[in-house]
Amino acid sequence: MSDLVVVEDVGAVRIIRMSRPEKKNALTQAMYAVMTQALREANDAIRSIVIAGGPGAFCAGADIGEFLESAQSGGLRPQTLEFLKALAYNQKPLVAAVGGLAVGIGTTMLFHCDHVVASTDATFTTPFLKLALIPEAASSLLAPMRMGYARAFEMLVMGHPLSATQAREAGIVNKVVDAAAVDDVALKTAQEIAALPAGAVALSRRLMRGHLDAVVRQIDTEVMHFKDRLQSDEARTAFSAFLSRKK
Ligand code: COA
Repeated sequence: MSDLVVVEDVGAVRIIRMSRPEKKNALTQAMYAVMTQALREANDAIRSIVIAGGPGAFCAGADIGEFLESAQSGGLRPQTLEFLKALAYNQKPLVAAVGGLAVGIGTTMLFHCDHVVASTDATFTTPFLKLALIPEAASSLLAPMRMGYARAFEMLVMGHPLSATQAREAGIVNKVVDAAAVDDVALKTAQEIAALPAGAVALSRRLMRGHLDAVVRQIDTEVMHFKDRLQSDEARTAFSAFLSRKK
């Protein structure tokens, strides 16, 4: 178990909060495992889920130190894939509370959410190519569908960041609010969804996300290539450069 992710049930809403502020909520394998379990084990009493971070940082992406270890030990750790599959197969409405930077998986997990609340100072970046990696979490499928190919290429491949307003215009974010209000607005939104008839919500969600097989296939295909990229010399060099950078 990791105490870097805190899971709390508030009535019918489960809150999954990444809590590693000193590393801007960069995700470790232990954190992925807790998040996976919290998604998978949400029973009938849980009718919506909030994924939250902290003030200033929603999530700085996967832990690059672990990327380097994985590269040296021959591949991606299974907890990452399990989390991606848990996100894809999750049947509960997901609300994200993005109170600051959202990097890598911090942004791509949002394509699996049903409602995203962001702070005015939130930024959305996917610097995969800078690390000699490729997009993951089925974002290579879901981002072009959501925001159109041109904007998706600029974000996913060119690594250009989006502001909260741009992310709203691109269809990733629903509401942009003051940083201090993000958690509250996200919880209220999750409660609003939780109060709707659960069976009808689940069915509507399934109908609207009707491409589950394609999403899971895309995750598997991306992971296959991601593993190779992870072990490439250019990726290892990029990881080492980040870890040894001078501030
Ligand atoms: N993996 C591991 N450590 C990370 C991390 C990550 N993805 N993101 C941030 N950290 C660590 C930093 O190394 C730093 O640790 P230190 O204090 O021990 O040196 C700490 O978190 C704070 O980060 P810092 O860079 O000082 O904060 P910042 O506000 O100046 O910048 C980011 C924040 C997120 C822009 C910057 O840390 C960054 O670019 N991180 C890498 C993001 C990334 O590429 N993620 C993977 C995408 S696939």
